[in-house]
Formats: sequence, C-alpha cells, structure tokens
Amino acid sequence: MNALEPDQLIAEAKRQTGAAADAAALADAKARFLGRDGEITRRLKSLSKLPADQRSAAGQALNSVKRAIEDVVRNREHEIEAAQLDARLAEEAIDVTLPGRGLAAGGLHPITLTLERIERIFRSIGFDVADGPEIEEDFFNFTALNTPENHPARSMHDTFYVDAGDEGRRGLLLRTHTSPMQIRYARMHEPPIRVIAPGKTYRVDSDATHSPMFHQVEGLWVEEGISLTDLKSVYADFIHRFFEREDIDLRFRPSYFPFTEPSAEIDMRFADGPLAGRWLEVSGSGQVHPNVIRNIGLDPERYVGFAFGSGVERLAMLRYGIGDLRLFFDNDLRFLRQFER
Ligand code: DAH
Repeated sequence: MNALEPDQLIAEAKRQTGAAADAAALADAKARFLGRDGEITRRLKSLSKLPADQRSAAGQALNSVKRAIEDVVRNREHEIEAAQLDARLAEEAIDVTLPGRGLAAGGLHPITLTLERIERIFRSIGFDVADGPEIEEDFFNFTALNTPENHPARSMHDTFYVDAGDEGRRGLLLRTHTSPMQIRYARMHEPPIRVIAPGKTYRVDSDATHSPMFHQVEGLWVEEGISLTDLKSVYADFIHRFFEREDIDLRFRPSYFPFTEPSAEIDMRFADGPLAGRWLEVSGSGQVHPNVIRNIGLDPERYVGFAFGSGVERLAMLRYGIGDLRLFFDNDLRFLRQFER
C-alpha cells in the first residue's frame, strides 16, 4: 500500500472496509490503516525523514487522509449495525396474521361440582344454604357445641390455632368441622330452621383418606314436633338423589358426639357395583343435645333438632369411584379434566 497516492489510499480503505461483513472484520480492516502498524501510522512516523520545510504540508495532507479514512470506517460501522438490526427484526418478526392459540375454557373442580350438587338437592326440599368463617372462635367450634375445655372429644379434633395477638384471647382456630354453623345460623334465625352449611374444615391429619383441609356439609333442622324419622327420610332422599340410584340402603349406627343425644353414624350400602354389600360411613348425625338448643337461645322442652355432618370428599369419592383423597388437591390436570362439563 506504501506506493498509493492519498486518493487511492482512501479508495483502498473504502474497498477493504466495504468487504468487511461484521464488526470483527471491520476492526481488522481499520487496523490495517489506522492501527499501530497501520499504513497511516507508518507514513506519519516517516514524516521525520522529510526535509524540515516539507514536513508541515505533508503532515497536514496526511492528517486529512487519516480523517477521511476514519469517516470511511465510521460509515461502514453504521452500515453493519443497521444491517444487523434489520436481520434481527426480520428473524424475530411476529406474524400478526397467524390465528391465536386460544384460551381453553377451565372446568369446575370435582369438589365444587359435588358441593353444587348437594346444595341443589337440599334447596329443592326447602333448606337454606349458609356460609360461615373458616377461622372460627373456640367458643363456636367447641364450647357452644357442648364440648367444654378439657373435654376428651377435643383431642380427636386437633387443629391449627391462630396466634392473633389480642384477638388470640378469643381463642381463634381453623374450624375442625362445620358444626359451629349450627350455633351461628340458629342464633340468627327463628324456627323452623332448615339449613345446610357446606365449607372447608381443617385437622392435623394427612394420608390417603385424610387431608389437613377437607370439606364438610352440616345440616340442621330445628322445629317443634319432628322426630328421627324425619331426619332419616330427608337423608335417605338426599343420598338417593346424590348418587342417582334407589338401590342404596342406609343404616343409623349408634355413636357418640358431645352435641347430639342420641348420636349415630350414617352408613350406606350399594346393592351392586364394585363396592356392593359394604357398609360405608358417610356422616355423623343425631338429635341436637338440649344444651346446644339452649346455647342457641331456644327452649329444649319445646324445640327438637336434628343435625348431620357429612364429608364432602367422601361423597365425591364414592360417586366418582376415586380411591385416593389426595388426587383432589394435587392439581394434576389429567385428573381434573375428567370432570369438565
Ligand atoms: N361434626 C362432626 C365431626 O366432624 C360430625 C357431626 C356429627 C355433625 C353429628 C353433626 C352431628 O351435625 O349431628 O366429626
């Protein structure tokens, strides 16, 4: 390059930088002219060999060539950047004319479907549906239900206690059953009382048939002159409609709950199918204890009450033939999609 005239040198710089396709190639080309061993640098160094009176003019000429080549490099730099940006935009382009992926419609959870089904059946026979707090006062969860402090039945209901500072003095806990709704609802309504109270309940329990959070549905019926026959017929009607079959037997097996006297477990038995012939426990029940009738502000000599508390997961498992309770709470779409309507 050392023989080239200034104009030719600039033209050569244009040719070489123009041939550089990317930033690295351009840096190499730039170095051949402007780098430490580059042509311009070399020529600047050799100025000292010229006679003193020529140095200044030659130096100025060389410097203007240098600036011209710097411009050439800068222009090419911008061209390469612009080309790279164009390439990226083309590559990442979004085709707005493509059809959308769409949103799959979700489905209701099998427990929600089961709760809806239970509510529909009881509404149709004149029961109200009530909702209550999951963080409950010790008083409603136990004491008002004839289960005073230190009552042994409390240990069967080990639960989660809420440390709520000053509130904690009222003894807050996650309700262990929906039965506190008996007290809450009956205190706010005049007999005749016919209500179900479905919802979440909590216990320190976890295996294939127990979950720390589960659902119950409470039933309460308080009226003058009703008898156990009424409870039996209502519950039998419910079970037949819930399972959509008549070939189910019910039995009331004596049991104990502090808030009922007498108390019974309700067992059911399918006439055929995979569970045929086995008694399956589905609910606690009983005649509301006179102390509980008093706690809701009514005269136990005058009013009779019947109550039941059924496990919602249990009913759903029997209806759908599900063997493991935990499937309800794993959030596995392969399981949940089977219930979409
Ligand atoms: N609350 C009881 C439990 O969770 C179930 C129960 C039994 C509810 C008898 C009732 C009842 O209303 O009368 O174990």
